[in-house]
Amino acid sequence: MRIEKILNNKKQFLDLLLLADEQEDMIDRYLEEGEMFALYDDDLKSICVMVQKDSQIYELKNLATYEKYQGKGYGKALVKYIFNYYKDKCKTIIVGTGESDLTIPFYEKCGFCISHRVKNFFIDNYDHPIFEDGVQLIDMIYLKIDL
Ligand SMILES: CC(C)(COP(=O)(O)OP(=O)(O)OC[C@H]1O[C@@H](n2cnc3c(N)ncnc32)[C@H](O)[C@@H]1OP(=O)(O)O)[C@@H](O)C(=O)NCCC(=O)NCCS
Repeated sequence: MRIEKILNNKKQFLDLLLLADEQEDMIDRYLEEGEMFALYDDDLKSICVMVQKDSQIYELKNLATYEKYQGKGYGKALVKYIFNYYKDKCKTIIVGTGESDLTIPFYEKCGFCISHRVKNFFIDNYDHPIFEDGVQLIDMIYLKIDL
């Protein structure tokens, strides 16, 4: 398994980025400034994008593993790599996600704790209703971890 920082042509990973964030213009808001990492185990398995919020905080803006490789430890391995990569660069990593049983338990397994909620985020920021596992996402739930 190897993890590479991606410096150019981040849009080549659009298929994975869209798994985590299905509206491309929302991805465009952070992709340019974001730091992207790709996990390979033979071929590509997972990607993530990190954005600096202030001198102490980075935000995990996108994380996805190809569907057929989910549940095999790749997402968690990438998150652990990120913790190590950023431990001397910031104090805290935050991540925002929909109120979904598909993502919150995963982040908790990685060590994140629920921090706060941004009401109506998905209604106010997306041009169409977003559903995950048949449930409409309304609020953004933020989780955080101190490194
Ligand atoms: C969320 C996602 C990135 C997780 O990646 P993954 O490679 O499947 O996760 P892992 O296999 O590393 O799982 C790590 C741990 O979380 C657990 N986990 C993963 N999904 C879970 C779920 N829905 N419910 C409970 N536990 C879950 C795993 O069982 C594993 O537990 P363990 O450490 O005890 O073995 C992946 O499911 C995905 O790409 N989803 C679609 C995109 C998405 O929603 N991204 C997040 C946007 S905020």
